[in-house]
Amino acid sequence: MAEMLCVNLVMCHAIKIFLLVWTFACYTDILFLLQIVTHIMRFLSVSDRKEASQVCRIWYEASLDPILQKDIIIRFHALTANNMPQLPHRKTSHLIMDQFDTSNSAKSVMLNSCKNFGESLQSLSLKASNLTESTFVELLTHCKNLKSLDLSCCNSLFMSGKLLERNSDMQALRKTLKDVKKLNLSSVRYLSDATFNRIVTVCENLESLSLSSSQITFNGEVYLKTGSTKCASSSLLTYGNILEYVRIQAPKLKSLNLSRNSLSNESLQDLVRIKDLNLNELILVGCKDIYDEGIADLCQHQKSLRLLDLSGCIEVSDGCVGLISSNLGNLETLKINKCRRVTDSSIQLLKHMSSLQVLELSEIYQISSTGLIKGICGNVNVSVLLTHLNINCCSLVQDSFILSLCKVVPHLVHLDLGSCFPLTDVSIHAISRSLKCLRYLRLAWCKEITDLGLLGFEATETGNKEIHNHGDNGNCRCTRKYNSTTIFRKPTGIKNKTPSTTDIEALMQNVDNFNKLTNLSGLRHLDLSSCSKLTDLSLTQILKFKELQSLNLSMVHIKDATVFAIAANNPSLEFLALAQCSAITDAAVEAIAKKIPRLSSLDVSSCDLLTEESIQHLQKHCKRLRCLDVSFCSNISAESVDNLENNVKTLHTVHKRLVGGTF
Ligand SMILES: *[C@@H]1O[C@H](CO)[C@@H](O)[C@H](O)[C@H]1NC(C)=O
Ligand SMILES: *[C@@H]1O[C@H](CO)[C@@H](O)[C@H](O)[C@H]1NC(C)=O
Ligand SMILES: *[C@@H]1O[C@H](CO)[C@@H](O)[C@H](O)[C@H]1NC(C)=O
Ligand SMILES: *[C@@H]1O[C@H](CO)[C@@H](O)[C@H](O)[C@H]1NC(C)=O
Ligand SMILES: *[C@@H]1O[C@H](CO)[C@@H](O)[C@H](O)[C@H]1NC(C)=O
Ligand SMILES: *[C@@H]1O[C@H](CO)[C@@H](O)[C@H](O)[C@H]1NC(C)=O
Ligand SMILES: *[C@@H]1O[C@H](CO)[C@@H](O)[C@H](O)[C@H]1NC(C)=O
Ligand SMILES: *[C@@H]1O[C@H](CO)[C@@H](O)[C@H](O)[C@H]1NC(C)=O
Ligand SMILES: *[C@@H]1O[C@H](CO)[C@@H](O)[C@H](O)[C@H]1NC(C)=O
Repeated sequence: MAEMLCVNLVMCHAIKIFLLVWTFACYTDILFLLQIVTHIMRFLSVSDRKEASQVCRIWYEASLDPILQKDIIIRFHALTANNMPQLPHRKTSHLIMDQFDTSNSAKSVMLNSCKNFGESLQSLSLKASNLTESTFVELLTHCKNLKSLDLSCCNSLFMSGKLLERNSDMQALRKTLKDVKKLNLSSVRYLSDATFNRIVTVCENLESLSLSSSQITFNGEVYLKTGSTKCASSSLLTYGNILEYVRIQAPKLKSLNLSRNSLSNESLQDLVRIKDLNLNELILVGCKDIYDEGIADLCQHQKSLRLLDLSGCIEVSDGCVGLISSNLGNLETLKINKCRRVTDSSIQLLKHMSSLQVLELSEIYQISSTGLIKGICGNVNVSVLLTHLNINCCSLVQDSFILSLCKVVPHLVHLDLGSCFPLTDVSIHAISRSLKCLRYLRLAWCKEITDLGLLGFEATETGNKEIHNHGDNGNCRCTRKYNSTTIFRKPTGIKNKTPSTTDIEALMQNVDNFNKLTNLSGLRHLDLSSCSKLTDLSLTQILKFKELQSLNLSMVHIKDATVFAIAANNPSLEFLALAQCSAITDAAVEAIAKKIPRLSSLDVSSCDLLTEESIQHLQKHCKRLRCLDVSFCSNISAESVDNLENNVKTLHTVHKRLVGGTF
């Protein structure tokens, strides 16, 4: 418990209040106490609550309150189902049962869970489970209040084509599934018109439908005759049949996912022109046959769209983005990742989009700072609304954009700048200084970033000299008296004259640096992988984030010192990636195992110095480990990994390619 006490600032307060209340409540009744604890827990994150619920019986009971269970997702994976915990009188809203098979034990686990959670269950995912039709019907009759049903990849359920063939099954499910609003039928290979029609008939109030990767057959003649008699195929899922359904359901349908199907201009036109269809969300990821012509119709007929995802629609170009920005004024989320034909000339038009909150532009190689500054920084409401920006792999983007961006988006929460190669320390300083709300920051492959950037130092042209001069006389020139932030400017001209370790260490003692990355105190996800100029020097200093959940330092040249610092200063860590950090030793893994209590995923692939000793530390101390990657660790034997798998019950995925150097 002592370890947990320092887990989180919020929790510390919660605990203090609790202790106070406890002394008081000893004289009153336990229900009152429960209510208070439940109330306090409402202010904690899911992960903090999980931790708190294990402190004592009362806290556990309090954590089971339905109010707190709303955002909890329970996930059983078939592999770990045998030692599934008993969950007495627990109410939960969300249940995922992943990859279950037809065995009797799996069936009974599923049935018991559905009976157990029964009416409190709001969302159920049977993703990739190998169910029989009868088990399916039996399961769902217990779930009377279901709002969301995920049957993605459930191939066996649809293979025979007999699902819900019996009238009695239809009647039974029609009653229990009448409130289902979301249905996920993604990646079901054997879906046919007949089974599709039956399943959507029992979910009569559907608002959101996903049919991505479902091998829809596009056959001109069948669907062009609108209003003609339906010819439902029992072996194929035809686009005409889907259109027919959308026509009937149009007033209710708000969200469609038709990703990874070969929708053409015309098929998209037929869809968006349907009378009374006013979609809020349309997701068309990877529809490679859609051109600007199709999008033109979309923009004309679906003005209420709030989310549009055209990622990977490689044929759409500037015309499309222009149409979107001038027509879809309600759009809050726009994703056009990998639309490689888009250029600055349309990106600058994004300034007209007055509701934009989430923008994803990754892998559009032609866009540059110029277009982004005009389109994003010049946007009417950007400073109020934008919270999420992804420009991963936009490799022309320079510091100038980041500098402008940081001035206008104080509320940014999510920023992905992976592989924006030209970015330098200047950008990092601006981010650390301005983006106080940031929770997600990705800087992977930004190879120009140095220790000075993370530490908040800027170097001047004569920077090296100043660094050498200061300190001898105790009268340091680089204090705030001289200038608050710009002490050194980036050294230009001479390469390889970066300040040495001792220089920087001396600097750190003398200067209050205000642009330290640590200033982003709410950070939860940080990716610095492949930032090859970073060293222990800065990393040991700046990796101090109370709320950090995931950290990626793969391919950074760190030594044990950084890992010790991480283990000591980031109590909320759950995901840690240290792949190809080839200098770390067993001592580092020992620190990780002992001091990061919530660790659930660890990647130490290609860390050649690690031995069985590391595995033993993990086995002994990691009680939550679910995923481990020890591939290519040539000094770890395959037997020890097998042993770990047998002994750590929570472990669910282990990657161990070429472990021990064997083939
Ligand atoms: C699914 O169940 C069927 C029937 O029991 C079985 O033949 C098939 O191998 C199972 N498939 C998987 C992936 O478990
Ligand atoms: C539907 O299932 C697919 C595949 O499992 C998944 O990628 C997608 O996120 C799911 N969609 C929803 C809305 O749950
Ligand atoms: C839509 O489908 C794609 C492809 O399967 C999937 O990756 C994505 O998560 C889905 N989105 C939603 C919101 O369901
Ligand atoms: C969509 O429109 C473009 C431009 O007119 C055309 O080149 C393309 O062939 C059309 N695609 C289909 C599948 O009709
Ligand atoms: C966005 O800007 C427009 C003016 O361009 C304004 O009418 C609207 O209220 C703004 N929206 C928000 C949410 O601030
Ligand atoms: C000090 O830094 C500020 C910006 O922080 C800058 O505007 C000012 O010109 C600098 N002064 C000197 C003397 O360099
Ligand atoms: C950065 O953090 C330091 C120390 O916590 C604080 O004194 C300083 O005001 C912060 N800087 C900014 C710009 O918020
Ligand atoms: C960590 O970064 C590497 C390199 O950028 C990437 O391949 C890997 O997927 C990342 N791991 C996680 C867990 O994000
Ligand atoms: C195994 O570890 C030793 C040090 O314990 C190291 O010298 C050696 O290079 C490692 N083996 C390989 C294949 O890297």
